[in-house]
Amino acid sequence: MAAGPTTSTASTDTSMELCADPAALTAWSDAHRVSGRRVALVPTMGALHSGHMALVDEARRHADVVAVSIFVNPLQFNQPDDFTAYPRPIDDDLAICGAHAVDAVYAPVAATMYPPGFQTHVEPGTLGDVLEGAQRPGHFRGVTTVVAKLFHAARPHVAVFGQKDFQQLAIIRRMVIDLDMGIDIVGMPTVREADGLAMSSRNRRLDAAQRRAAACVPASLDAVRAAYAMGERRADRLIALGRAVVEQELLARFEHLELVDADTLQPVTVADEHTVAVTAVWFDEVRLIDNVRVA
Ligand code: PAF
Repeated sequence: MAAGPTTSTASTDTSMELCADPAALTAWSDAHRVSGRRVALVPTMGALHSGHMALVDEARRHADVVAVSIFVNPLQFNQPDDFTAYPRPIDDDLAICGAHAVDAVYAPVAATMYPPGFQTHVEPGTLGDVLEGAQRPGHFRGVTTVVAKLFHAARPHVAVFGQKDFQQLAIIRRMVIDLDMGIDIVGMPTVREADGLAMSSRNRRLDAAQRRAAACVPASLDAVRAAYAMGERRADRLIALGRAVVEQELLARFEHLELVDADTLQPVTVADEHTVAVTAVWFDEVRLIDNVRVA
């Protein structure tokens, strides 16, 4: 780990900077930049788990210093209960970052991120209208707005995002190109539990029975992949096979399973190697998403 500059507002140990406002994060980043170091940012909403630490490890492969942002972004929640229930174990998160030799943590409060009078947003294009965007109006506008703000504050050379949020990754790549942000965006393969469930901060809201049942989500995607490998190409057949796996699970409530083109996110009728299967499944009030390439 490189020695930290003395620009932060606080620190949790001798080397990890804890920044509470954008100016502190920018000062931290600039100090490293002028010393010729590459800066990486891993944006998160906290409740950190080993999937996030895999993003940090990947960030370190691309940069000399790594900042993690922790901010539960109200703009991207379209259900107030979901925002309220989102876990916020900030002390644990800071300990995890410290133990993982993260160089800086940016953890602003909402009034710092969105000061009184805030009214400027980054509007995603049509990539934000489909799939998750259709189910959760305004969600991606919230994501692009906060990520643009995080990028401006952190001034990273590179930022790392999980492929579990496949549509988010596509939208952020587009935003970086469209707004000339000049940041390398790295997509990190989904990290999974032993039963295949994609790691997610939402998993900790499942009770024990729901957690066992949630294995049906990766199992349904596996069913799609297996049928594709056996030669099935018709999207409606592949979707029906995957959907049936979820519908056999009593605690699961199927929301959607779609086969889309990896670049345009538009639905396909015939699957090929560019096709991604994307799904959302509910367990009571907890909504889990996942995706896989069919090939
Ligand atoms: O993927 C997430 O955790 C969030 O959408 C992000 C990118 C940190 C923006 O709030």
